[in-house]
Amino acid sequence: VDNQSIRLEKRGAAALITLDRPKQLNALNDALSREVLRAAQGFDADPEVGAIVLAGSQKAFAAGADIKEMLSKSFADLFTDNYFAAWDQLATIRKPLIAAVNGFALGGGCELAMMCDFIIAGQGAQFGQPEIKLGILPGIGGSQRLTKLVGRSLAMDLILTGRLISAEEARSAGLVARVVPDDQVLAVALEAAATIAGYSAPAVMMAKEAVNRAEETALTEGLLHERRLFQASFATQGQKEGMSAFLEKRKPAFSGR
Ligand code: HXC
Repeated sequence: VDNQSIRLEKRGAAALITLDRPKQLNALNDALSREVLRAAQGFDADPEVGAIVLAGSQKAFAAGADIKEMLSKSFADLFTDNYFAAWDQLATIRKPLIAAVNGFALGGGCELAMMCDFIIAGQGAQFGQPEIKLGILPGIGGSQRLTKLVGRSLAMDLILTGRLISAEEARSAGLVARVVPDDQVLAVALEAAATIAGYSAPAVMMAKEAVNRAEETALTEGLLHERRLFQASFATQGQKEGMSAFLEKRKPAFSGR
């Protein structure tokens, strides 16, 4: 398949999707959206892949939805095409998705990073939801995911003023998992992906599923869901191998299932 707006690579069991519209600072347009989704779904189904990294360039992870593409669209266009609703499918990817963020992660770019399971950011990265400056508001989950991640007060501040925050502020607020030097972002993200990919694949997918339940359900339901998944993990080879290896003081060799 020919991709116009992204590049794909496999580094061992880690897959890498790189946004590649440098002249537009990786602004998200229709084609890029379709390509990222198709690539993520392909890697999700690929037994050689254990985790996926999504990256941009040094200057920008993504500077938002493509303003040129959006300018002339009407309500009827957005409604009929359900503009950018397809991004919801990223939430159905079962393998871990890590956002490797350098530079600007703004608007839809920040929203895309938040759709990943966690964010590793460079010291110089900047996050924001500046849609208000364009006369619109976040439209790919920003008002919901940012609020869940950083709380109502800071989410309101960012979404209503459009101001940007640094990687360090984003980390202390809970938006970003780790801040590393700019030139190490990709290496650290790929290393995290390789680490995850080295574990028992069903345990990894169950763990991701369990954490995601925390956002969707009340505590009692979430705890029950976790308990069932925990119990189910004892039906995997990985549990026998992981525990045997620990007791035999050797490295575990997990199979892919
Ligand atoms: C289209 C964009 C773009 C965008 C940048 N460019 N952001 N094109 N859509 N979101 C283009 C510029 O037009 C310019 O093209 C080139 O990329 C370089 O950008 P500059 O502005 O010259 O760079 P710089 O001065 O370094 O400023 C960087 C920046 C600024 C601070 C990131 O570009 C900026 O504010 N961009 C817009 C950020 C934004 O508002 N994002 C939210 C979009 S709305 P030329 O041709 O001049 O070289 C959104 C809604 C999501 O995301 C929900 C949808 C359903």
